[in-house]
Amino acid sequence: MSKNNPVVYLVGAGPGDPDLLTVKALRLINQADVIVYDRLVSEPIIDLIPHGTQRVYVGKAPGKHHMGQDEINSLLLNLAKTNRSIVRLKGGDPFIFGRGSEEAQYLVQHGVNFEYIPGITAAAACSAYAGIPLTHRGMARSVRLITGHCRADQPLELNWKSLADKQTTLVFYMGIANLSQLREELIKAGLDASTPAAAVENGTTSTQRRCISTLDRIADDIKAMSIRSPALIIIGDVVSFANELDWFTPQSDIKDAIEQHAAEN
Ligand SMILES: C[S@@+](CC[C@H](N)C(=O)[O-])C[C@H]1O[C@@H](n2cnc3c(N)ncnc32)[C@H](O)[C@@H]1O
Repeated sequence: MSKNNPVVYLVGAGPGDPDLLTVKALRLINQADVIVYDRLVSEPIIDLIPHGTQRVYVGKAPGKHHMGQDEINSLLLNLAKTNRSIVRLKGGDPFIFGRGSEEAQYLVQHGVNFEYIPGITAAAACSAYAGIPLTHRGMARSVRLITGHCRADQPLELNWKSLADKQTTLVFYMGIANLSQLREELIKAGLDASTPAAAVENGTTSTQRRCISTLDRIADDIKAMSIRSPALIIIGDVVSFANELDWFTPQSDIKDAIEQHAAEN
């Protein structure tokens, strides 16, 4: 890279816990002229942006886009005309259901240099913070990362037969709204209704919540707990470890326990 050429850094911010940022991500955040960030970049990570750095929010909420993808692409291009170091900060990993590859393609097509800094994706982080190993010798020999939501709310058409494998852990991103369909299709394709299943809401953050259930009950259980996006769905026998390996206590649980203790004494 020539010293004077602008670079757009496509940076993964990880799932929320700022301690899960990579050293490289933090270094680039500290050096950036401008930071363009998404809705899934957590508050504690936004707080790490130096005060003088220009920041642009382009967050997308489910169903309502703050800024369309075309506008984001043009914005990056325009910022590259007047800045040296542009950080495009995205939740999790930019290349995993993050549209980072589309932004990279656009930059390449318009002659702008980019670099890609992977982040910890929700599947790896939320499962770990929920006490669920994605693989386990003799139990789960593969993992599938799957979108539970199709472009423009099209019906979800997946190869259900290939997903219904007892020794594969299924991880659905954006799967909350279509969970009833997921359950029906997977059971129809042959996955046992009693297969352990979990939802992890706001994984790795101070407000993380887990719903540990089974394939046939998970849709009702997450409704009962009012689990909302962002949430990750994990289906497979490895979910059975969730109680034994439950190591993470979110700050909100600690606060509730302190309040309960105070009320009782
Ligand atoms: C558009 S995808 C972005 C995924 C991101 N690029 C990644 O690698 O994690 C958004 C979905 O990721 C999942 N997700 C991301 N962060 C999460 C978190 N902290 N807790 C639970 N789910 C999360 C949810 O399924 C959410 O609907």
